[in-house]
Amino acid sequence: MLQSLGATLGILSLAYAHAAPHTIRLQAVAPRNDLSLGKRALDPTTIPLADHFLGTDLQWFGNITVGTPPQTLPMVFDTGSSTLEFASTLCEACSHQVQFDPTKSSTFVDGGAIRTITFATGGGVDPVIGDNYQLTLRNGTDTVSIGGLSAPDVSLFLVIDQTPKFDPNPYSGIQGLGARAQGLFGSLVDQGLPALFSMYFTPKEVGNAEMTLGGIDDTKFIGSPIFAPTSSSGSAWVLDSPSLSVNGKTNPLLSTPRNIIFDSGTSNILFSTNTTEAIYALISPDIKPNPKEPGAYGIACDMIPSLPAVIDMAFTSQDGMLFNLTIPSSELSVGPFADDPSICQTLINAFDGLDLVGGSLMKHWYTIWDLENRRIGFAPAKL
Ligand SMILES: *[C@@H]1O[C@H](CO)[C@@H](O)[C@H](O)[C@H]1NC(C)=O
Ligand SMILES: *[C@@H]1O[C@H](CO)[C@@H](O)[C@H](O)[C@H]1NC(C)=O
Ligand SMILES: *[C@@H]1O[C@H](CO)[C@@H](O)[C@H](O)[C@H]1NC(C)=O
Ligand SMILES: *[C@@H]1O[C@H](CO)[C@@H](O)[C@H](O)[C@H]1NC(C)=O
Repeated sequence: MLQSLGATLGILSLAYAHAAPHTIRLQAVAPRNDLSLGKRALDPTTIPLADHFLGTDLQWFGNITVGTPPQTLPMVFDTGSSTLEFASTLCEACSHQVQFDPTKSSTFVDGGAIRTITFATGGGVDPVIGDNYQLTLRNGTDTVSIGGLSAPDVSLFLVIDQTPKFDPNPYSGIQGLGARAQGLFGSLVDQGLPALFSMYFTPKEVGNAEMTLGGIDDTKFIGSPIFAPTSSSGSAWVLDSPSLSVNGKTNPLLSTPRNIIFDSGTSNILFSTNTTEAIYALISPDIKPNPKEPGAYGIACDMIPSLPAVIDMAFTSQDGMLFNLTIPSSELSVGPFADDPSICQTLINAFDGLDLVGGSLMKHWYTIWDLENRRIGFAPAKL
């Protein structure tokens, strides 16, 4: 999920899987200078991810544990935000989620500070309107573990209230994984884990989605990854794109350079209205805004199978080479609108001032998020 205004960017998305442990071979991990200070390197770990699927793949999520003794909580791993927050027993509105009970953890420390956060992108494909995705949080610290790796005294937030838009989510919260290591991941890196993680988000019918912390699972992609440097010095994962093409065509607006945020916690794509409409114009004049859901567009579902809608996003690799990340036509529909099931929603929502890609791209590309070298690697996912 992408956090609104002033806050970091973030979202929600993941595929149902019970992956056996994999052998991870590391590539391109720079040697760590601090190992000489007596730190032992941590081995990479891979956890399986489940897919929140509602006619379309929405979010991929996997388990962490919090507290002593450990309480298991399903989380979205969100490159669009940086903090850790999850439903707690202090939240009456969170009864649909697995709730963390701080009174049952001997290592929980209550911070007592309350704040709210609002998201600019939500958990599904619906546009976010006003503050319909808002969490009220209380801070604290506790031990947090993932895939057998553990960190003490991690800063976290208990959700103490939430808006009803969160009700359908099969996960308890969001583990931010911004481009600056902090919280759980920061602590694991301090303990000697290589400062990168990789995501394999697959469509539901493929399954076996996974996330590897501290390494790369090279059984999950084809060829060698191409790396592109991030253009932001902050915690957002941003790549510069010189141009977009649709079905092999571009135009002056689409070939205007733009900064695109990569957000593993958002399922849809968001572009400014001008870009959104320029892309749809190259697919079909029948793709129209849905006035009941500002920012969403759609077309008669029965037209979708015959529409070519290949979107190529160009990026520049760290070696100065242009490459495309391609989203195939099969992603055009994200499913029927609730208010009119004969109309299918299309994959881009208009959101002025934001260019962002999420799950619909990452379903086709294995992604490597390299904090140490501030770059993202891509290789076609083995599906
Ligand atoms: C998370 O843990 C629960 C309870 O232990 C388990 O049923 C579920 O399969 C796990 N989910 C994943 C994605 O591993
Ligand atoms: C909670 O937040 C307050 C105010 O920012 C801070 O002073 C305190 O250290 C935090 N406590 C914990 C346990 O994180
Ligand atoms: C990217 O895709 C566009 C449109 O299909 C194509 O014209 C261009 O040559 C591609 N670029 C690369 C580097 O493959
Ligand atoms: C498209 O819209 C955005 C947001 O309103 C604006 O910043 C940008 O300059 C526009 N781009 C072009 C090429 O007109």
